[in-house]
Amino acid sequence: MADGPVLITGGAGFIGSHLADALLAKGHSVRILDDLSTGKRSNLPLDNPRVELIEGDVADAKRVAQVMLGCSAVAHLAAVASVQASVDDPVRTHQSNFIGTLNVCEAMRQAGVKRVLFASSAAVYGNNGEGESIDEETTKAPLTPYASDKLAGEFYLDFYRRQHGLEPAIFRFFNIFGPRQDPSSPYSGVISIFSERAQKGLPITVFGDGEQTRDFVYVEDLVDLLVQAIEAPALEVGAVNVGWNQATTLKQMLQALGEVVGGLPPITYAPARSGDIRHSRANNQRLLQRFTFPEQTPMSVGLARLLGR
Ligand code: NAD
Ligand code: UD1
Repeated sequence: MADGPVLITGGAGFIGSHLADALLAKGHSVRILDDLSTGKRSNLPLDNPRVELIEGDVADAKRVAQVMLGCSAVAHLAAVASVQASVDDPVRTHQSNFIGTLNVCEAMRQAGVKRVLFASSAAVYGNNGEGESIDEETTKAPLTPYASDKLAGEFYLDFYRRQHGLEPAIFRFFNIFGPRQDPSSPYSGVISIFSERAQKGLPITVFGDGEQTRDFVYVEDLVDLLVQAIEAPALEVGAVNVGWNQATTLKQMLQALGEVVGGLPPITYAPARSGDIRHSRANNQRLLQRFTFPEQTPMSVGLARLLGR
């Protein structure tokens, strides 16, 4: 791998800051481009001389081109991570979630940077995985602007691979959880919201009947894979699912949370969110073939770490 920092867009956020920690631990330097819309300075060890934080928007092509200079590889994580936010404001989220990706591709072409890791999403499959584990060839059925932008980003990365020799590692993350996932918005990840409310004894709202399923992955298990993709001498073509092939209902997740916290606050049920995916479980054969999956952090252990217990 060439010298120069790894650029992490969205590196002040939940997943990005864990990736920064893991890359630093392996001796890399990191340059972070983040607009701090949901990310925080306090997520980063800014006293480390191998960390550089540049405040800026991935939708700003000039800014992206400037920060790309001298980088060895890119982890492109900057996006509005909330599916619901994209439903409410498709135009604004498209700037970050699609234009940002195109700007990263173009800046890489100009700067001659090849390796890029892209945070795509299980959302690209829509409801086509109903009851089944979803493999990468499952027909794509994006139900929301968020999913459409992620899928379009994948296609653009593949265009830049064929046309300009970029080396994209496209990961379709299922549901990631762990410390630093910001619980402060109603749009935040469900485990971060439920954990915070359980700890404070505040009521919890489940949208739908609580029988919807997700394939939850602890953030450090994911980050282990992302580091492998940054460092691999070569990458195979094609997107890779990141999940454990395990479906957990929200009710089961709440039960596990109750065991860690020692009880749960009152739970109410409200109508399901529009565009919400019912069942989501990753077929992870391709992931297991291409990468060394770390030992799974059990949900109870991940929840305990998230709650600082
Ligand atoms: P996050 O909100 O904590 O991280 C996103 C980061 O991007 C934040 O630091 C935010 O400030 C930054 N950002 C947003 N818009 C930006 C812009 N226009 N310019 C510069 N920075 C910007 O969320 P996360 O969960 O860490 O998500 C990281 C990535 O992983 C996102 O691309 C998300 O879509 C994807 N993803 C997350 C999950 C999950 O379960 N958390 C699952 C699938 C995919
Ligand atoms: C999440 C990620 C998204 C990612 C996708 C991949 C976030 C914010 N979203 O979307 O970036 O691409 O996984 O699978 O990280 N719910 C409640 N009560 C709440 C909040 C949520 O019942 O207070 C429900 C939702 O309606 C949904 C489930 O919990 O049924 C999961 O919601 P959420 O954590 O927002 O995740 P996804 O929509 O799956």
